[in-house]
Amino acid sequence: MSLRNFILGLAASFGAAWLAVVVVPFFKMRSLEPLPLAEPVGTSTVFHPKRTGRIANGADVYAANGCALCHTQVVRPTYAGNDLYRADWGGLKDDADRGDTRRETNAYDFEGETFAQIGSTRLGPDLSNLGRRVEAAHASFAEATRWLYLHLYDPKLDSTRWDSQCPPHRFLFEERDVRGQPSPDALPVAASEGKQVVPAADARALISYLLSLRKDHPLPAALDFAPAKPAAAE
Ligand code: HEC
Repeated sequence: MSLRNFILGLAASFGAAWLAVVVVPFFKMRSLEPLPLAEPVGTSTVFHPKRTGRIANGADVYAANGCALCHTQVVRPTYAGNDLYRADWGGLKDDADRGDTRRETNAYDFEGETFAQIGSTRLGPDLSNLGRRVEAAHASFAEATRWLYLHLYDPKLDSTRWDSQCPPHRFLFEERDVRGQPSPDALPVAASEGKQVVPAADARALISYLLSLRKDHPLPAALDFAPAKPAAAE
């Protein structure tokens, strides 16, 4: 084989992969047109997960603390691995109002994020649908928030997770004087005399972000690859 053919062959093999894996997906996904919903949700008539304000700041805190090293945010399509059976990863199996809301992740789920934090390993569970999952497991939104703060402060404080490998993030909390009533977000942990342990700004932003993670929005028809079958006539 001549050197020229060798170089051409090398360029062709790497070039084809680069085209298919980098260039084509980039042009397909870099600007997604808004998709209309069949029925409006609240005031919104297009599919557009909320990614602004404190939620966007929280995404930065998530990135800065390397959460994506251990947590993915992709519920894989079934041809690439079966994720849908895992409890509440891609939606709830029995949502009180809408029944089975489980679905795979699509490109629109990351719309508006500076970086799609799809994650590198799965040492911990996938967090795509964490907000919905935590909300469903607690009696109220306030309780769900409190549980997340406690988990962030030290996962082992939840007695059912005494062996948790999720690192504590105590540095995202601060001690503050109790003035009048204690803060509703104060953690039930030991603090110095007259003080309370409360989440600092970064922890608040991060929890807003975590609570915004959900994959059970109703999908526009164009993305609904497995629409619910119409109920059979009696
Ligand atoms: C070293 C790997 C690692 C890192 C880094 C990590 N986690 Fe975890 N995480 C885990 C493991 C393992 C679990 C499962 C054990 C448990 O539930 O406590 C977990 C569980 C969780 C859960 C509970 C999920 C559920 O569905 O029950 C949340 C929420 C969470 N992590 C958030 C975070 C956040 C936020 C960060 C970054 C600030 C982070 N984790 C960083 C390993 C990690």
